[in-house]
Amino acid sequence: MGNYHALSLLVFSLLFSSALSAELCHPDDKKALFRIKKAFNNAYVFASWTPDTDCSDWYIVNVMRGPTVACPSSSQMTVRWRAASTTPPLGAIFLERNQLTGSVPESFGGLKNNKDLYVRLAKNKLSGPLPKSLGAVDFTVIDLSRNQFTGDASFFFRGSKGLQDVDLSRNKFSFNIGEVTLIIFDLSHNKIYGTLPPSLAKLSNLQQFNVSYNRLCGPIPTGGNLDRFDKYRYAHNKRLCGSPLPPCPITNNCQMISIMGNYHALSLLFFSLLFSSGLSAELCHPDDKKALFRIKKAFNNAYEFASWTPDTDCCDWYLVKCDEKTHRIISLSVTDDNKVAGPIPDAVGDLPYLQEIGFINLPKLVGPIPQAIARLKYLQSLWVSHTNITDPIPGFLAH
Ligand SMILES: *[C@@H]1O[C@H](CO)[C@@H](O)[C@H](O)[C@H]1NC(C)=O
Ligand SMILES: *[C@@H]1O[C@H](CO)[C@@H](O)[C@H](O)[C@H]1NC(C)=O
Repeated sequence: MGNYHALSLLVFSLLFSSALSAELCHPDDKKALFRIKKAFNNAYVFASWTPDTDCSDWYIVNVMRGPTVACPSSSQMTVRWRAASTTPPLGAIFLERNQLTGSVPESFGGLKNNKDLYVRLAKNKLSGPLPKSLGAVDFTVIDLSRNQFTGDASFFFRGSKGLQDVDLSRNKFSFNIGEVTLIIFDLSHNKIYGTLPPSLAKLSNLQQFNVSYNRLCGPIPTGGNLDRFDKYRYAHNKRLCGSPLPPCPITNNCQMISIMGNYHALSLLFFSLLFSSGLSAELCHPDDKKALFRIKKAFNNAYEFASWTPDTDCCDWYLVKCDEKTHRIISLSVTDDNKVAGPIPDAVGDLPYLQEIGFINLPKLVGPIPQAIARLKYLQSLWVSHTNITDPIPGFLAH
């Protein structure tokens, strides 16, 4: 608050960002909504649905990762439905370096490729032949390395359009492998500086991505192909943050520098200004807060959860992230802690809007992957690795 220069930057960039605000609505959703409007004979209730406006601003549309469309029950239209096909399927199943046993569930042959599909099961105690049905799945990345799989896996290299990376190393497979072209992207051990450009996420053939041991700082871009890379590809940099590393702090120097272009950093700063001037309302949903406290308790209030206190807004807590619009918890990521002990708490299933789960490098995390996770219908990324999680991979992950 004492920094007039920062404040005026903020004001200008607020003006700037509101003038140029991009359409949030997905064009496919917009098209579908127009068909719905038409099907209801362009009834008056849809008057705000016009081509030149952003569908996320439209009346009776709730834009999240999959829009919920509700017809007002007060009128003659009493239908209420959820556009089920727009709920994205689980697209990232990262279960490497655990103590998982058994074979790959038959249900994995039904895995859907919404956009990209990453499955990493490396370094477990998995065995047996792979279900033949996996041949029909359009994987982007499949890593089965360091298990005891047997039999044929050549079907991964036939006719799969989006396949970019297959790792079958250190198993007992036996088959003839075809040709696979990979693009190498390894910049490790340099003196490269600055922030990672968001366009990186759009490179479709990114392979062996590794920017470790550089001087990068700021948030790691999300989406696309970048989502599949583990934190070791970003290790030993100046100040990189965000998934798969811990969340970005509110005051990140890189973010302050690039504030003109960074709406997310801006809104964080804006909220922290509100907060510091005592005007902030709690954004956290009380149900989410309750569930998070159950998780904290299940892990014996480990130090990792020290910022999770009753008098603070859970959207500001370490290890979690809220959606910017709905303020529901969408991400939970607990990493690198040997005090976090016990099974994955069922309360994880009580965060209904979770899109990403990360339990990474937690040697005392034990037990199976709980059934409660099946309740999370918006889950897109499940990342449980470097733990002592046991039991077979649950089939419900593919449903
Ligand atoms: C990335 O590069 C570093 C440094 O060469 C190396 O230690 C690390 O294993 C690499 N990570 C991956 C996933 O290849
Ligand atoms: C599993 O637990 C053992 C014993 O505590 C530990 O040494 C090992 O590192 C753990 N495994 C992983 C992958 O964390």
